[in-house]
Amino acid sequence: MEYCFAPLEGITGYVFRNAHHDFFPSVDRYYTPFITPKQGKSFTSREWNDVLPEHNEGICVIPQILTNQAEGFLKMAQQLKALGYEEVNLNLGCPSGTVVAKKKGAGFLAFPGELDAFFSEIFEKCDRKISVKTRIGKEDPEEFGPLLEIFNRYPLEKLIIHPRVQTDYYKNSPNTDVFAFALKESKNPVCYNGDLFDLEKIRTFREDFPSVDSIMLGRGLLVNPGLLEGAKRGAADQMSGETGNGLSTAPAPDPKRMLAFHDRLVEDYCHILSGERDVLFKMKELWFYWGKLYQDQEKYLKKIKKAQKLSEYKTAAKWLFTECSAKQPQNYGF
Ligand SMILES: Cc1cc2nc3c(=O)[nH]c(=O)nc-3n(C[C@H](O)[C@H](O)[C@H](O)COP(=O)(O)O)c2cc1C
Repeated sequence: MEYCFAPLEGITGYVFRNAHHDFFPSVDRYYTPFITPKQGKSFTSREWNDVLPEHNEGICVIPQILTNQAEGFLKMAQQLKALGYEEVNLNLGCPSGTVVAKKKGAGFLAFPGELDAFFSEIFEKCDRKISVKTRIGKEDPEEFGPLLEIFNRYPLEKLIIHPRVQTDYYKNSPNTDVFAFALKESKNPVCYNGDLFDLEKIRTFREDFPSVDSIMLGRGLLVNPGLLEGAKRGAADQMSGETGNGLSTAPAPDPKRMLAFHDRLVEDYCHILSGERDVLFKMKELWFYWGKLYQDQEKYLKKIKKAQKLSEYKTAAKWLFTECSAKQPQNYGF
């Protein structure tokens, strides 16, 4: 099984990616948050830093592009080729209103004719591998049939499917019927993405879809960065005949390791961000996810959220990791 870390804009940039790879080396491929081609301009400094090879040493990284313009896509793919990337990923899943209004991300799915013309041009002219991360439609899962016919006309490296429509955002459950249809009818290799938050969910998914050999996880890996170590350990146990289901339980990572991972993030963000406020903002964002991992963490979490100085913040975070024990995986309430 191949495990991919989903792109999460604002969170899984190169600082997070490197720390995760060093502390929890369990992911096969990391997809970057989207990069957007801009007319007459090259990368922003954030985008450039994210894809620089020296910022991604030893990690398998696939840059993701968000656009509906073949010319911009091709130019960016060329620049990424010069940096050594062999594959680029196209974002057809972003549900954000501003992106969709520009006919990009999941918004592009509502224009199948234009999408087909876009694919025709990029597949004719691009000499890199192209994978696609898509939702199953703009408003109605019925849109997916015709969309799959388009995808099937082109040699995608991988079709990553998040089986929700744009208007779901992250509500409702992933549509496994449409995913099953995609799996049966796709001429391209398929990767599943959506709501695999814990090992039990991964196990059920693998039982339901035993032919899928690539899955992508986002929020589950943010909550529990060590989640896939349990999955890999389970698969190894199964090969040696020690467990039946191929998945061990994945408790929250040892608090000492979590604290070390956390401290590394703080240190690295301090190096690249311009002040304590920005570092605090970045770290507090992560607590939306980590806060779900431990028991009786409320009073520490409150201190973390209220902290205005990095020193106060670090003390509160250390307390939480030292004092709180892990919860059993549960419904995280996303
Ligand atoms: C904060 C946030 C940022 C995201 N940024 C991106 C992005 O840049 N590109 C993309 O394709 N998907 C993005 N996504 C979607 C995720 O990659 C993923 O498809 C989604 O979270 C569902 O997977 P999960 O249930 O495993 O989290 C983002 C999602 C969230 C919550």
